Amino acid sequence: MAEPLQVQFAPLSQAPGGTLIVLAGEELALGSSARGINDRAKGALLRAASAAAFTGKAKTAIELLAPTGLESQRLVLVGAGRPGKELDRLLLGGYAYAQANARKGETATLICDPADPGEAGVGEFAADLALGALLRSYVFKKYVTRRQQEEGAEAEAGDGLGKLVILCDRSEAASKAFVARKALADGVFLARDLVNEPANRLGPVEFAERMRDLAGSGLEVEVLEEQDLKALKMEALLAVGQGSQRPSRVVVLKWNGAKSKRAKTLCFVGKGVCFDTGGISMKPAGGMEDMKGDMAGAACVAGLMLALAKRNAAVNAVGLMGLTENMPSGVAQRPGDIITSMSGKTIEVLNTDAEGRLVLADVIWYAQERFKPRFVIDLATLTGAIMVALGKEYAGMFSNDDRLAGELAGAGELSGEKVWRMPLAKAYDKLIDSKNADMKNIGGRFGGAITGAQFIQRFVKDTPWVHLDVAGTAFDSPRSDINPSWGSGWGVRLLDCLVQMHYEKPER
Ligand code: BES
Ligand code: MN
Ligand code: ZN
Repeated sequence: MAEPLQVQFAPLSQAPGGTLIVLAGEELALGSSARGINDRAKGALLRAASAAAFTGKAKTAIELLAPTGLESQRLVLVGAGRPGKELDRLLLGGYAYAQANARKGETATLICDPADPGEAGVGEFAADLALGALLRSYVFKKYVTRRQQEEGAEAEAGDGLGKLVILCDRSEAASKAFVARKALADGVFLARDLVNEPANRLGPVEFAERMRDLAGSGLEVEVLEEQDLKALKMEALLAVGQGSQRPSRVVVLKWNGAKSKRAKTLCFVGKGVCFDTGGISMKPAGGMEDMKGDMAGAACVAGLMLALAKRNAAVNAVGLMGLTENMPSGVAQRPGDIITSMSGKTIEVLNTDAEGRLVLADVIWYAQERFKPRFVIDLATLTGAIMVALGKEYAGMFSNDDRLAGELAGAGELSGEKVWRMPLAKAYDKLIDSKNADMKNIGGRFGGAITGAQFIQRFVKDTPWVHLDVAGTAFDSPRSDINPSWGSGWGVRLLDCLVQMHYEKPER
């Protein structure tokens, strides 16, 4: 991405520069700094608010140009609404950023002196605003070479905010609180970058190479190449990639941050199909370009692992990614082929477009064999059917463990990356029985997301497990005040929240 937004914290006494952003709570509740500014401007803030019928509701703002009595040429009064939760503060930060960014100017100063910070301390409040602003500032313009001059400065006026200074009481506490949040944003950005990258630039090999770079952040990085995967007997994963000129890879990222030596490992597994044409069961042309994002599960795992390392999380976690490309060719797998997965179970491949489950079958098996984990959570853009069921607001959640599922549902509500539990049952499982092998890789016409999950469950031993079908949320999901990007980075904040809430304290 381009230069990321620079965020700084400073005491309220510091003279503001650039666009001045002032918060107003519901019913025009001004904090003492905002009241001071209004006084110096001879009441202009409140008069403008009343003229514009601005009341301080969230997601509203008004602009004052060259207000008398103030140095600032431009003041934006942003509605903060009623004091809310962490997610509300992130959204407010994102909205305030967008307000400043839509106007001219390189820098903005946000006065964070809310009338009522609610449950949060002021330092925390400011750090949350900063994270929201940062998440909103993300752009993926790597391949846009048009220069500013050609388009005219006007067109780029909204592209300019490079620095945001947040003034608050306790700015040092805010800076401290921001460290872990910045780590999280780095993880989200990594996931977004990987998903946004086109498939010609990011195949399994390039993805794996980028994972090697993460060693600099304290992660242990292992890359398994095709010969290793063959030796491990991962025929299901290899069969997906066999039609591609580009070899498959499995990457293992390890983070050992737990205080106790006996702490069990948490395993996160991601579907990393760098492009999914459908293979011989080929997809129609319309919208196929979106399948460059079919590695979003793996991207989320990468982003999560980076965030855990960068914020020095007190946990042992392993991220595993099954990286491959699903292409049609003279050596591609065919409908009707029967393959033997690493587990020894045989699979009749009736549709080569149901490839994600084949990849996960082997990587999840491997994760359990090698790490004996406390739980396995897999993320996959697995089925179009999950979007039919849930749209693009919630990811589908399937689990064999009520507690883990409950913890994730809770983390979903807090982070705003919401999950909705879907059923698993014997009757659905029967739908993937095959006459010719242990199972087939598609069910019938109905319940496609469920039969996909049932397939994966056949490769789960007695480990607590959650499968997240993120086909609707990982890319092209509704943009928000904290996500302007096609590749959303969905799941990084959710899983970081899960780990932080439930897995960084000594084992229960
Ligand atoms: N990667 C796709 C699922 C997908 C579709 C994700 C659209 C995001 C947007 C997956 O590999 C797939 O092709 N699934 C098939 C399964 C079917 C053949 C049983 C599907 O959903 O149609
Ligand atoms: Mn497919
Ligand atoms: Zn796919």
